[in-house]
Amino acid sequence: MRGLRVLVTGGAGFIGSHLVDRLMNEGCEVVVLDNFFSGKIGNIKHHLDSGKFRLIKRDVRNSEVAKEAVGCGCCFSSSRHRERATICREPITR
Ligand SMILES: NC(=O)c1ccc[n+]([C@@H]2O[C@H](COP(=O)([O-])OP(=O)(O)OC[C@H]3O[C@@H](n4cnc5c(N)ncnc54)[C@H](O)[C@@H]3O)[C@@H](O)[C@H]2O)c1
Repeated sequence: MRGLRVLVTGGAGFIGSHLVDRLMNEGCEVVVLDNFFSGKIGNIKHHLDSGKFRLIKRDVRNSEVAKEAVGCGCCFSSSRHRERATICREPITR
């Protein structure tokens, strides 16, 4: 997966942040989309200055957010996020 740009919704949460750690270790470029409803910046802050990490503080239900996640080749989401957000179900091509 080295070099792949990956979107993780809820990436500041408990499970999401462990997934982010793993993906960063694998050499991925990681985009986290999280509204910090229950997520914590402390879970991801060690990646903020890595140059391979981007944080989008938005709600997955916001359709405008898709524009900011263009170019992600892979998306990891909890089933709840997938149900609620177009961004998690449809490829982002433009
Ligand atoms: N932790 C467990 O042991 C466990 C076990 C089985 C299933 N799950 C499921 O896995 C999922 C994640 O669990 P977790 O423990 O990491 O929870 P968590 O609350 O730590 O993480 C969820 C993340 O999603 C973010 N979030 C919530 N709504 C959002 C929205 N609308 N837009 C953007 N971001 C949003 C939160 O801010 C948080 O960072 C949940 O659906 C949970 O029910 C968890």
